[in-house]
Amino acid sequence: MKRVDDFRLRLGSHELVPIMVGGMGVDISTSSLAIEAARLGGIGHISDAMIHTVTDRRFHTHYIKDRLKQYKGNVGNPDKSAAQFDLGLLAEATRLHIGQTMEAKRGPGLIFVNCMEKLTMNNPRETLRVRLRAAMDAGIDGITLAAGLHLGSFALIQDHPRFHDVKLGIIVSSLRALQLFLKKNARSGRMPDYIVVEGPLAGGHLGFGADWAKYDLATILAEIRHWRDIEKLDIPLIPAGGIFTGSDAAAFLEQGAAAVQVATRFTVTRECGLPDEVKQAYFQATPEQIEVNNVSPTGYPMRMIRNCPAVGNGVRPNCEAFGYLLDASGHCQYVEAYYRELAGLAEGQKPKVRDKTCLCTHMRNFDCWTCGHYTFRLKETSRQDADGNYRLLSVEHVFRDYQYSTDGRIELPDLE
Ligand SMILES: Cc1cc2nc3c(=O)[nH]c(=O)nc-3n(C[C@H](O)[C@H](O)[C@H](O)COP(=O)(O)O)c2cc1C
Repeated sequence: MKRVDDFRLRLGSHELVPIMVGGMGVDISTSSLAIEAARLGGIGHISDAMIHTVTDRRFHTHYIKDRLKQYKGNVGNPDKSAAQFDLGLLAEATRLHIGQTMEAKRGPGLIFVNCMEKLTMNNPRETLRVRLRAAMDAGIDGITLAAGLHLGSFALIQDHPRFHDVKLGIIVSSLRALQLFLKKNARSGRMPDYIVVEGPLAGGHLGFGADWAKYDLATILAEIRHWRDIEKLDIPLIPAGGIFTGSDAAAFLEQGAAAVQVATRFTVTRECGLPDEVKQAYFQATPEQIEVNNVSPTGYPMRMIRNCPAVGNGVRPNCEAFGYLLDASGHCQYVEAYYRELAGLAEGQKPKVRDKTCLCTHMRNFDCWTCGHYTFRLKETSRQDADGNYRLLSVEHVFRDYQYSTDGRIELPDLE
């Protein structure tokens, strides 16, 4: 049986180990994680989700404090339309995070940024334009368009000098979404360089409805591949979602996938941005604790560990500091749910909001434990110490395990 290392991903002039570590916002897939994946010859992703929070943490900037100061008078007002993003500061923060990451990159691999359309930021079109262009200015190797159909995204950057040199990809969960994307972006005179086909077992937001369990990655991939071949489109396909071992990955590569996108296995690496106690919660998770729910205010179903602090919490919306999910009219489903609950309470009582969560606040605090379906198998990938904690792994260890393992085996860390 072949192993992942028997294959290579060709993207333009690059020949890569066909392992792409998927973007995990907000700074779960850190710069260090992406830099390691690139050093090892694969592709690593950072994310531009809540970029100001990320740069404040990484570089001690004070974007969030300043934004809150600017819009302080609006805290407590259910109408959040006034809390606009300064596009100049958005570009600055994006260039800082991405520029510093690219400067630190070593080795033969590439670093891409995951760019979610659902981060509508109170001005969807202009903020997306700035995010994409600033990433290109900062020298990013590639942009993966995520969480949305991105029907107008190429048009936002087609006059950028790097439009034909930066690698551009899209995440889709159906042939229909891919066809729409290609049709709407056809006028830009450029095809995507790769297509990530994400199945229903992935982490983060899902491109499926409540019936996600009826779908399976291999079937969607085969359907897209069949159509791509009929259309004679030479675009690499990269399956994602539930590819847990090197053998799972090699099986997809043997069936014609160009690479695989993986994420869950990397959530328990030292380089991953989650706090250590959250990494332990991922190790300890049982199958029953992992659910797909509708608490995300984006309207997309999201997979998470059900006992995380974000579920059922009634924190006051803080769009004046964050506000990444405000739509074009300044609405967020969580803001609406919060004020609905508040209306029924006596003065001073704190609401509990069960149907939605304040994704900005909870992702910022690492309280929303989004995860892949197979998170409950992470305990198979490490050793448990006498205190009950599992040993954290290195990106190199997990990457090499995907690259070289066969027969469904998972390499455990060395005994100390
Ligand atoms: C903790 C976590 C956070 C994620 N966040 C994002 C995200 O911000 N944007 C995105 O497009 N995909 C996100 N994903 C999806 C991954 O990039 C990837 O496509 C998918 O999880 C791969 O499946 P696997 O986790 O089973 O390997 C996330 C996945 C995980 C596990």
